[in-house]
This record gives sequence, C-alpha cells and structure tokens, in this order.
Amino acid sequence: MAKAHGKVILLGEHAVVYGVPALAAGISRGVEAQARPTEGVSVLTIDGGPTVRADDPGDLARALRAVLDYTKKDNAIALAIQVTGELPPGAGLGCSAALGVAIARAVAEARGEQPTIAEEHQRALAWEEVFHGNPSGVDTAVSAQGGCVLFTRGAPPTITPLYVRRPLSLAIGHSGTGSSTKVMVEGVAHFKARSPEVFGKTLEGIRSLVQNARLCLESGDLPGLGKLMDLNQMLLSGLMLSTSEIETLCASARAAGALGAKLTGAGGGGCVVALCEGDAAPILEAWTRLGFEAFASTVAASP
Ligand code: PMV
Repeated sequence: MAKAHGKVILLGEHAVVYGVPALAAGISRGVEAQARPTEGVSVLTIDGGPTVRADDPGDLARALRAVLDYTKKDNAIALAIQVTGELPPGAGLGCSAALGVAIARAVAEARGEQPTIAEEHQRALAWEEVFHGNPSGVDTAVSAQGGCVLFTRGAPPTITPLYVRRPLSLAIGHSGTGSSTKVMVEGVAHFKARSPEVFGKTLEGIRSLVQNARLCLESGDLPGLGKLMDLNQMLLSGLMLSTSEIETLCASARAAGALGAKLTGAGGGGCVVALCEGDAAPILEAWTRLGFEAFASTVAASP
C-alpha cells in the first residue's frame, strides 16, 4: 500500500508561486493507493468518487496518463489502481497532490521501481499540472516528504527539511465551501496585473514573515510563530483571498486561545489552520459550536 500525506501551509501560500519560500508541514491525514496488474487498459478507481480508464477523455484520465507514462517502458503492463483517502478536495489540504504522490508510488511499486523522493515529486507534479496549470510544487513536495519543510520554487525546487524544536498542535477547520486552486491563483495574477506595486510590497512582506517564522520554529517560539501567521492572514486578505467564514474561523480560534490562525492553501473557501497552545480541543469546540467541521493534527518535534 502506497501512502502520501496531506499538508498545511503554515505561511507563504500564493507568494510561493512567485518564488517566495513557503513553510509547510505534512499532516497525518492523507491518501493510500494500491496498484495491481490488469488486462487491457490501466484504470483508476477513487473510493467514493469516479473510475476512469487511461484512454478516457477528461482531466482525471489525462493526469493518470501523465503519471503512468512518466517512466513508461514499451512493454509496461496495465495497472488497476485503487485509491482511498481522508482529505476533502478543494479544501487547501493538498488532496490533489497527495493523490498524485500516492498514485506515483503505487505505480512505481507495481513496476518494481525505486524512485527517490525528488523523482516521486516530479511524477506527482506531472499529475498536478493537469489540474492546477501553474503549481509551485509545494503541495507535492510536502506530500512526498512529510515533516516540516521550507520550499522554494525553481527548476529544481529547493526543499529544506526544517528543525522543529517544539511540537506543533494544530486545529484545522473547514469553512464549509471549497474553491479551485487554479481560479484563486489566476485571481492573484489579475491582482498583480492591476496593482503591481501593492503586490510587490505584499510579496516582500510575506517573504520576511516566512523568514522569521522559520526562526520561530527552530527556536521553539510558538507565540511568535502564531503572530506571524496572523500577519500572513492579513496580507492574504489584502489579496482578496479570504471569505467571511474564514474570518469567523480565525477570529473564533484566537478568542478560544489560539496563538495564531490563517487560511491555508488557495483560500476563497477551504480550510483555516490555527496554532494551539497545547491542546487543540478548545478551538475545535469553538468551531463545532459555530457549525464548522474541524479536526486536530500535530507536527512532531525533530528528533
Ligand atoms: O492546492 P492548495 O489549495 O493546497 O494550495 C496550493 C498553494 C498555492 O500557493 C495557493 C498554489 C501553489 O501552487 O503553490
């Protein structure tokens, strides 16, 4: 069984598309995939979702072909791939990247290949490109790697595993609506075209927040990290990525004792991540009282 993590972006989403580093962490919820030989054409079945053949039209089949053909040999056998997962799609938790990584791993296992993490990342990126148009690659990198990483876009990207001095207790709450990462990334590109100066200043602001957040993680300054997350949320709102539900989730998390809270991923819906002081329960309770779905996750301290 091949597994891949979901992820939260602690700081730096969207700016990462323009080359600013992002700080992201794998979460325990993820996706599992299994591939076994079959007759005829390869087929992908997503539990509770669609089944597609590799020769079908549409994005899902195109993404499947992108992974299957990445290392295709002339006599590559057809595979039946079965996927199960616990990540809501369109929620900013890296569902699509985790699918790409888990499927790439299952295909490699079935073909007796042993790709490096960087190669898995490349194969999963081929999957992501079908859906996202212009993905920075942060989702696939964290999904393949797990832990906490500083990711900078590039060819090749820079993926630096970070030292985490104190474990992070996170509460993740769903705003109730999904969003398309592609559409949100396009919206930011329009903002940049309309207001290049504001956009440039926002990027530099996020860059310095991320740099300081790295220091906080490494030194165990969690209140400092929380404040930086709050500031990042302000800048993301300025890019028109927040919604009233996201603002409600952030405000109620802070009122319930969170050290900081912000949207995670593309925004415009999806999830909020709150950094908790110890137990996530008070924040989860505050959110569920307001009718939001939520769960806790932890990022372990480095050994
Ligand atoms: O796919 P999501 O919603 O987890 O967001 C990905 C993060 C973005 O920075 C918004 C896009 C990207 O490609 O990095």
